[in-house]
Amino acid sequence: MRALVLHGPGESSWDEVPDPALKDGGDVVVRVDAVTICGTDLHILKGDVPEVDPGTVLGHEAVGEVVEAGDDVRSVRPGDRVLVSCITACGRCRFCREARYGQCLGGGGWVLGHLIDGTQAEYVRVPHADMSVHPLSSGVSNQDAVLLADIFPTAYEVGVLNGRVRPGDTVVVVGAGPIGLAAITTARLFSPGRVIAVDLSPARLEAARQFGADAVANGSEDPARLVRDLTDGTGADVAIEAVGVPESFELCTRTVRAGGHVANIGVHGKPAVLHLEDLWIKDVTITTGLVDTSSTPMLLGMLAAGRLPTSSLVTHTFGLDQMEEAYGVFSAAADSGALKVVLERAGA
Ligand SMILES: NC(=O)c1ccc[n+]([C@@H]2O[C@H](COP(=O)([O-])OP(=O)(O)OC[C@H]3O[C@@H](n4cnc5c(N)ncnc54)[C@H](O)[C@@H]3O)[C@@H](O)[C@H]2O)c1
Ligand SMILES: [Zn+2]
Ligand SMILES: [Zn+2]
Repeated sequence: MRALVLHGPGESSWDEVPDPALKDGGDVVVRVDAVTICGTDLHILKGDVPEVDPGTVLGHEAVGEVVEAGDDVRSVRPGDRVLVSCITACGRCRFCREARYGQCLGGGGWVLGHLIDGTQAEYVRVPHADMSVHPLSSGVSNQDAVLLADIFPTAYEVGVLNGRVRPGDTVVVVGAGPIGLAAITTARLFSPGRVIAVDLSPARLEAARQFGADAVANGSEDPARLVRDLTDGTGADVAIEAVGVPESFELCTRTVRAGGHVANIGVHGKPAVLHLEDLWIKDVTITTGLVDTSSTPMLLGMLAAGRLPTSSLVTHTFGLDQMEEAYGVFSAAADSGALKVVLERAGA
């Protein structure tokens, strides 16, 4: 089969590799019908996630059809259409039993496209299938469903729930990429008073407005001041970091009000400064997190009910074999206007 293989920092290509096979009774092999690219894949290519070995197939989001299932798999069968979650879970370890699947100690967690071969391929082996794939109803499209493999549960769990967004809150979302836009969308489920989006790209700020941001600020133009002006000088109730660089994290800690929450989502490759000389007196809560995808069944239910606006996030579609081109478009988002790019198998 063909797959996107990492060769080293900044280097990957769409190569011929062996087809994946079942290794364990709990595995399935899924034929990939739709797959997308995450900001985290760009971090991997930048060298921010050094544990990804050269030779690994990237990708951790997909929709496809089960083509083979191990003897121990109970919940899906060959022929079933499934969502492949970015997080796999053994279901038995201490953390899985608390629904903290991202931290799974039994060979799950974020493994796809990280520690084992991922989904940017024609086929993918998914371990612990019973806890790691979700059967899809026919009313849900591939393009919508693939957004629930990672970005929607991430934005909702690590941004909105960790940030404790409540009705009336002023919420600042720093970074208006797909994750930031999904954070704006899911924050609005809680009726915040005002959502302020910050980015460096005018195209992404325009997208933030379309997704429901009430105000936008360019990161280079003192967004902390805008937040102060809009909140009578107190600051934001919740600041959600959705970039993964020191400046964006530090901006969140500067814009949050006393007693507020900073919810970090971004994957960081460099240390950020924690200004305790300012923060110690502010009663601020800072959370970090890898997504657990424990909210995925709920989000799938909302999607099926037409209650989750997802489609406008997909700006570009490609064939699977246009993987390198799709990476080019996604990584040049400021110029291409790309939000989420989806690659589909011919005939899917
Ligand atoms: N914690 C998790 O479980 C988890 C899961 C998925 C993704 N992520 C991370 O979430 C982050 C966002 O993902 P994405 O797919 O939206 O990425 P993306 O690269 O598409 O978007 C990042 C956005 O941040 C903007 N930006 C860059 N520097 C900025 C700055 N200094 N101030 C304001 N905005 C700035 C960019 O213009 C871009 O629009 C990434 O770091 C990704 O790795 C984390
Ligand atoms: Zn991701
Ligand atoms: Zn586990």
